[in-house]
Amino acid sequence: MLDHLTVVTHPLVQHKLTIMRDKDTSTAGFRQLLREISLLLAYEVTRELEMTTKTIQTPVMEMDAPTLDGKKLALISILRAGNGLMDGILELIPSARVGFVGLYRDEKTLQPVEYYFKVPEDLGDRLVIAVDPMLATGNSSVAAIDKLKAAGATNIRFLCLLAAPEGIKRMKEAHPDVPIVTAAVDECLNDHGYIVPGLGDAGDRMFGTK
Ligand code: URA
Repeated sequence: MLDHLTVVTHPLVQHKLTIMRDKDTSTAGFRQLLREISLLLAYEVTRELEMTTKTIQTPVMEMDAPTLDGKKLALISILRAGNGLMDGILELIPSARVGFVGLYRDEKTLQPVEYYFKVPEDLGDRLVIAVDPMLATGNSSVAAIDKLKAAGATNIRFLCLLAAPEGIKRMKEAHPDVPIVTAAVDECLNDHGYIVPGLGDAGDRMFGTK
């Protein structure tokens, strides 16, 4: 069982994150680093997948070799920035089913507004990994996970790049059964709901918008 919060302190993750935080890093650089880091974070979030063995024949002899036990996975991208994390994970787990939760944050109230929801039908049979680079107030993440549970999900993990203490607290109160995996926990949120020191707006940095 993963802890409620796992911070991935691996040197490669921390190094890449520092470059992503730098405001002078280009859109192309940011995107590439997000892809690379997502592979490393995927390694952590899938650490406790169930295993079984199967009998194979090596060139030398027969052996019972470890293999994933075939439990099904669903990756859920919380749009739009979630897509940047998801692309890399799909390289590692190409057979995963994919879903999308479209939420934007009302800049005044900081409350999530839903505009899209499309997920695999059999969520209850799958390990569901919800991805969003920024766990800020936690409002969007909590709302997305509310929706996933309402759609049948019972085994959910949440993967992000940066988390604020406020968001972690909010998630722990609302969804104590959902482990969070992140590359860093920052200091706080500012008055606009941005993570401090953070990296700015992840979607804008990734897509080159403002
Ligand atoms: N979303 C972002 O993209 N950045 C933040 O700092 C907070 C929420």
